[in-house]
Amino acid sequence: MADDPIRLALPDVGAEEARAVAEVLESGYLTMGPKVEELEAELARACEVPHAVAVSSGTAALHLAVVALGIGPGDEVIVPAYTFPATANVVGLAGAKARLVDVDPRTMNLDLEQVQGALTPRTRAVMGVHLFGRPLDWEGLRAIVPEEIVLVEDAAGALGASYRGRRCGSLGTLGCLSFHPRKIVTTGEGGAVTTADDGLADSIRRMRHHGIEPRGPFEIRAPGPNYRLADILCAVGIPQVRRLDELLAARTRIAAAYTERLADAVDVPTAAEGDVHGWQAYVVQLDRRDEALAALREQGIEAQVGTYALHRLGAYGDQGRFPGADACFERALALPVHTRLTDAELDRVAGALRAFA
Ligand SMILES: Cc1ncc(COP(=O)(O)O)c(C=O)c1O
Repeated sequence: MADDPIRLALPDVGAEEARAVAEVLESGYLTMGPKVEELEAELARACEVPHAVAVSSGTAALHLAVVALGIGPGDEVIVPAYTFPATANVVGLAGAKARLVDVDPRTMNLDLEQVQGALTPRTRAVMGVHLFGRPLDWEGLRAIVPEEIVLVEDAAGALGASYRGRRCGSLGTLGCLSFHPRKIVTTGEGGAVTTADDGLADSIRRMRHHGIEPRGPFEIRAPGPNYRLADILCAVGIPQVRRLDELLAARTRIAAAYTERLADAVDVPTAAEGDVHGWQAYVVQLDRRDEALAALREQGIEAQVGTYALHRLGAYGDQGRFPGADACFERALALPVHTRLTDAELDRVAGALRAFA
């Protein structure tokens, strides 16, 4: 008999979330009710920031961050060449240009040495991605980027992670979270923008809601989309954010168990000393990645490539060579990560992968 499938991700949701959703359904306030603020308060606490604004996805969070900064036609934003495409797409959606910078294949995060060479008089911001939950060297980035260039955190996979004792989501002028089902906290679809800046928080709140001024007579000074997150979905997220430490501890245990089984066979992921990895994904690197991926899937193990090399996509194909992103795109393999993985399943994944070391 074939082995049971091993899921790539499995949201840690259960009776508590079901009860919370039932309460919202019974209340009749399916959106714009009290759960939005409750989730926002929990997120602000978790990220150690004054403001968290819930929105409909991580992409919506990134889009509003770019728009709130007034970035538009004629502007450039630095984006790592290896990231989920939404990090760059939102720049183009705002009418600006995403300027790719290569990544360090060891960390899979921005190669800081290459950032300086990509700065131009048009550069308005840098999208600092903590890819797969590994904190980017934030102070290193700040040190090489002039003060007037804004640092935005793509912390889509980094809720719970910390950089030198500071929570990811509190490092940039704006931080963007995602609650997609492969994330540590999930609402199905969802996201949030975090910030310490009262004015930017106000802008994000206004823009997620059609651009309607939050105070005074009904007024829209600039058009905005509807990027609100419904109360039903906020209710799913609240209990998970409350047990974030527990969820992170479980993921950290899974990561350590993989590392113990695989460190002598493939390149295993790490965080810099003093940092806490968020383990959105556990992504190894190996030369025979494609063979390994096919074999794992054949054995019912839901593995996946890491993420995408943007310069290989039609929308971003004209910016030169990015060997770091190429290496990651060709070698990175995401293994199943969720809180219900058993030791026997970890053994099965590691055993299957070691055949390709
Ligand atoms: C680094 C990064 N940025 C942005 C996003 C977009 O988030 P969402 O899927 O919630 O729109 C993701 C999601 O996978 C991501 O991993």
